[in-house]
Amino acid sequence: MIKYIGSKRTLVPRILAYAKAIRERTGAASFCDAFTGTTRVAQALKRAHFTVTANDLASYSEILAIAYIEADADEHRGPLTAAKIGHLNALPGRDGYFTQTFCVDSRYFQPGNGRRIDAIREEIERISDDRVERAILLTSLLEAADRVDSTTGLQMAYLKDWAPRSFNAMELRMPLLIPGAGTALRQDANALAATMAPVDIAYLDPPYNQHSYFSNYHIWETLVRDDSPESYGVARKRIDCRVTKSDYNAKGRSWATFESLVRAIPAKHLIVSFSNEGYFAHDDLVALLESRFHEVEAVPVDFRRYVGAQIGIHNSKGEKVGRVSHLTNQEFLFVAGPDAGRIVTDATATMAGAA
Ligand SMILES: C[S@@+](CC[C@H](N)C(=O)[O-])C[C@H]1O[C@@H](n2cnc3c(N)ncnc32)[C@H](O)[C@@H]1O
Repeated sequence: MIKYIGSKRTLVPRILAYAKAIRERTGAASFCDAFTGTTRVAQALKRAHFTVTANDLASYSEILAIAYIEADADEHRGPLTAAKIGHLNALPGRDGYFTQTFCVDSRYFQPGNGRRIDAIREEIERISDDRVERAILLTSLLEAADRVDSTTGLQMAYLKDWAPRSFNAMELRMPLLIPGAGTALRQDANALAATMAPVDIAYLDPPYNQHSYFSNYHIWETLVRDDSPESYGVARKRIDCRVTKSDYNAKGRSWATFESLVRAIPAKHLIVSFSNEGYFAHDDLVALLESRFHEVEAVPVDFRRYVGAQIGIHNSKGEKVGRVSHLTNQEFLFVAGPDAGRIVTDATATMAGAA
């Protein structure tokens, strides 16, 4: 799984427990993860045999969703794909856009790995024209590159000194595909809500502040699109980072955008992630969810602050210069819909029994 700010790794068991409790009470079967990012929540629900739709605006996220949610492991874990991954691992490197931009003009990857990324990216287009197989190979490349990068997990900057992992030779592995069918989409969540078929449960985890995922993960976007864009600044970001903005990153628009999403999404039950460091106010969110779903349960969950805050504040020479105010923020999960209170109680009891 790639390093991703806002990834809900620690919250997955809880979200899964709520979804299962909803299923116990209502027979719910379908689940939509409208801001799926790494797809880790969607993956857990697919493993639990929900019919899952995973959606996100990002191109790299769509690739991950095709591999982990749309692909059926029983169909795609075959020897042919494994052989192609072996072939890609054996390719000699060659200089190209990726090496120049992210290893010479900047230092996100060691040039040896960068040259192999250039060669492998080109070869994937040559050896695979199947949508799902191509996504599996690209996922394998993304995850392999992520294991040898030299960042703190964000692509706004690279480390002053090479990260120890960057010295490793990059190795592609077969992604751990999941049996069963699912759907991968790349749409604006609000546009999706206006057109999608009704689902039993939707999970909403939008960006909660001004930091743009498109900019934070510009290298993954470029690697997937393979469009060699003009780049700028020390971070060598894609030129279109200047103009590609999600409404959820704009303080003046985010609440109205979220409000219309909550009103429009055709889901019987909603699970919503919320952070007290974001643009939304807790009480506004409760009022909004109550106005549509009547029953709302707010569950506080502690969550470590993003990795940059844990590492500290540094100046341009890489020296620690300030103190981060706090290392945890307050996260909430909201469960909204019929029987929300009992669903949370059931799930809490199940989780306590399993602990
Ligand atoms: C907090 S992250 C989600 C993290 C995810 N739950 C995980 O565990 O990996 C928010 C995601 O919303 C996506 N995003 C931003 N604006 C969007 C929009 N208008 N519609 C759909 N996705 C959007 C970003 O690309 C990002 O992946």
